[in-house]
Amino acid sequence: MISDRKLSHIMICRDFDVSYKKGTHLDDVELIHCALPELDLEEIDISTRLFGKTISAPIIISSMTGGHPETKKINERLAKAANKLGIGLCVGSQRAALENPALEDTFRVVREISKDLLVIANIGAAQLLSPKAREYAEEAISMIDADALAVHLNPLQELVQPGGDVRFKGVINALSDLANSLNKPLIVKEIGCGISREVARELVKAGVSAIDVAGAGGTSWAAVEFYNSKQRGDILKSEVAETFWDWGIPTAMSLCEVLSLKPKLTVISSGGIQNGLHVAKSIALGADLAGIARTLLLPAFSSDEAIVDRLSRIIAELKTSLALVGCRSLVQLKSTPLVIKGDLLNWILQRGLEVRGLDRR
Ligand SMILES: Cc1cc2nc3c(=O)[nH]c(=O)nc-3n(C[C@H](O)[C@H](O)[C@H](O)COP(=O)(O)O)c2cc1C
Repeated sequence: MISDRKLSHIMICRDFDVSYKKGTHLDDVELIHCALPELDLEEIDISTRLFGKTISAPIIISSMTGGHPETKKINERLAKAANKLGIGLCVGSQRAALENPALEDTFRVVREISKDLLVIANIGAAQLLSPKAREYAEEAISMIDADALAVHLNPLQELVQPGGDVRFKGVINALSDLANSLNKPLIVKEIGCGISREVARELVKAGVSAIDVAGAGGTSWAAVEFYNSKQRGDILKSEVAETFWDWGIPTAMSLCEVLSLKPKLTVISSGGIQNGLHVAKSIALGADLAGIARTLLLPAFSSDEAIVDRLSRIIAELKTSLALVGCRSLVQLKSTPLVIKGDLLNWILQRGLEVRGLDRR
C-alpha cells in the first residue's frame, strides 16, 4: 500500500498543479545591485563543504522518490545528474523498502552511480515512534551508504491523507535519542509547511546537525493529498485537504524564524526554490544551501540530461547573482547588503525576529 501511494504521489505531482497559491516570499528580499563588481565571473567559487564532502554548488536535490519499482529510473536519473554536476542528492522516504526489502534497489541505484556522490537517506517521524526506530535509521543509512540521514516532519500530510499516522507524541525525544546515538549527521526537514523558531529551538536542543526548512510556496502536500483522496473517492479527506492547501510558513519567513536563533548548525532553504536567484537570496539571508524537489521531478520523467539542463540554468543564475552583488564566494554572499520589504518585513517585526538585513551594515 505504501509503495502504491509513493507512485500515485509522483504521478499527481507530474499531472496536476499542486503548488501553493501563496509564494515563498523570497521576492520580499532585495539584493543590492553593484555596478562595480570588480571581479571576473571565472573567479566566483560557489563550492561548499557538506557532511564531509565538497559539493560544487550549494544545492541538493530534495527527497522525492524510490519505494516503487517504477521509481527506480527516476532516482537513477536524479543521481546521474547530481553526480555530473557534483551536487548532493536526497532519496525519498525509505519506509517502503524497510518493510519490503525487494524494493531496496529503487534506492540503492543512487549509490551505484557513484561512491563519491553526497547521498542523504530519509525516513519519517512516524518511523521514529516505532520500537525499531534506531534499527530503521541505521538500515536506511546502510542501504545506500548515506552520508547523512534526514527525518521528515509532515503532520499536515499525515492529518489529511487517508490512513495517515496521526500520533505525534514523542517525536522530539526520539529525535534527541537519534541525534545522540547516530554516527552520521541528522537532518530534520519539513515537506512544505516550514519550521518555526519554536520548533527550531527544540531541534537545536535535541542536537540535530541540520535543519531543512522546506517552507510553503512550492509543492503543497495538502494539494497532493486533495487529488489523492479525490481519486480514491474519499470526499471528506479531500475537502479537509483542500481547506489546508495554503497552510504553512512561507520559505523566506521560515528561514528568518530559524536563522533568528543564530543556530550553530547547517540551515537548508527549500520549498518553492525555482531559480538561482532564490538560492542566492536564501544564502544572503544566512542559509548554507538550498534544496529543490518538484522543479526537478518534471525533467526527471524524461532524462538525466533534462535534469542537468534545469540545474545548469539554476547554477548559472546563482553565479550571475554573485557577480551582480560583487561577491566571489558564498561566505561573502552571506554578508552582502540586502533589503527586506513587504509581508516578510511585517512577519519579522510581528514575530520579533532578529535577522540579517534589519541590522545596519
Ligand atoms: C513527488 C515528491 C515526493 C516527495 N517525497 C518525500 C519523501 O519521501 N520524504 C521527504 O522528506 N520529502 C518528500 N518530498 C518533499 C520534498 O523533499 C520537499 O520538501 C517539498 O516538496 C518542497 O520542495 P519543492 O517546493 O521544491 O517541491 C517529496 C516531494 C515530491 C515533489
